[in-house]
Amino acid sequence: MTENSKEVELQSSAINSEHEYDGGLRVANLDAVKDPGLEPHRVRMTDKSVKHEKAAVRQVSLLFAVSMIGSAFALWAYFTFPLSENLSTVRLNTLYLGVGMTLGLMGIGIGAVHWAKTLMPDNEVSEERHLTRGSDEKRAAAIEILNAANQESGFTRRKLIRRTLYGSLALFPLPGIILLADLGPNPGDSLRHTFWKKGTRLAKDPTGIEIKASDITIGSVFQIIPSGLNPENKEYLEEKAKAAVLLVRVDPSELNETEERKGWSYQGIVAYSKICTHVGCPVALYEQQTHHLLCPCHQSTFDLVNGCKVIFGPAARPLPQLPITVDSEGYLIAQSDFLEPVGPSFWDRSVKS
Ligand code: FES
Repeated sequence: MTENSKEVELQSSAINSEHEYDGGLRVANLDAVKDPGLEPHRVRMTDKSVKHEKAAVRQVSLLFAVSMIGSAFALWAYFTFPLSENLSTVRLNTLYLGVGMTLGLMGIGIGAVHWAKTLMPDNEVSEERHLTRGSDEKRAAAIEILNAANQESGFTRRKLIRRTLYGSLALFPLPGIILLADLGPNPGDSLRHTFWKKGTRLAKDPTGIEIKASDITIGSVFQIIPSGLNPENKEYLEEKAKAAVLLVRVDPSELNETEERKGWSYQGIVAYSKICTHVGCPVALYEQQTHHLLCPCHQSTFDLVNGCKVIFGPAARPLPQLPITVDSEGYLIAQSDFLEPVGPSFWDRSVKS
């Protein structure tokens, strides 16, 4: 019987008996993934012809020569364009050094790969896997060593030493764990609240001038801080960083407000936290035509007229909205603080305070 006919017979018996139903539900799946074996060996041109072999030798040498030229060029550039106060020299130094070093490294790398692929021996070699379990002799020798170490150190015999060692090992990690308490002051609920309170007037940043609804035309954007935020205050920067708001006016008919948020805007004027919910960069760009707010750090994009939902980028949550209205003098005021924490997520953000 030829090898081929044996193979065909084996295959057909494997197909016929792929599943064996032998007394009940037992299923035997024979050789579900067949070993594909090695691909047939392909003889390289450099093995067949001396001409190609010599060409490959020249190519590899050429690549190494390019590497030498590149490195020499980098050295020349280093001494010819020393780092100085002259910016153009610094620029040339960086550029030429980079080019020279790139050529130096690339020439060696590509040359070595080309050498290995075209000229070094091209035989498929397979290595049998050995058992990961050690031989019985090795295992017995290891146990012997452990027993000898036990005897010599007296570990089981000297109870006092053994117990004090256990105690020291148990206590040893505690100072490291206690140090975790010094990671910083507990922020308490400061991450959940900002300077905004019911009735706080909206003021322009950085002048602090309070702003009226009539000052805002459709399409305009203002960076806003709470009125009364005092720059002399020690906490000024922290409070400003949490309370900063973007104020935008759009055509009220374009706003898609949820039932719950109807009444949070005033005649198309909406106020959203300026602090990106990704990692807290200031959302700084407003695209008037599309009503998109963009965070320049990682391009998170928020849809202003749809509750500042995230429409692109890594931010996971919409920008929190500040409910606003006007007071009797027409000044814009906050109806309350933000109703959710502003800025990026923190570990217990979802826990209600
Ligand atoms: S901080 Fe805004 S996208 Fe990353």
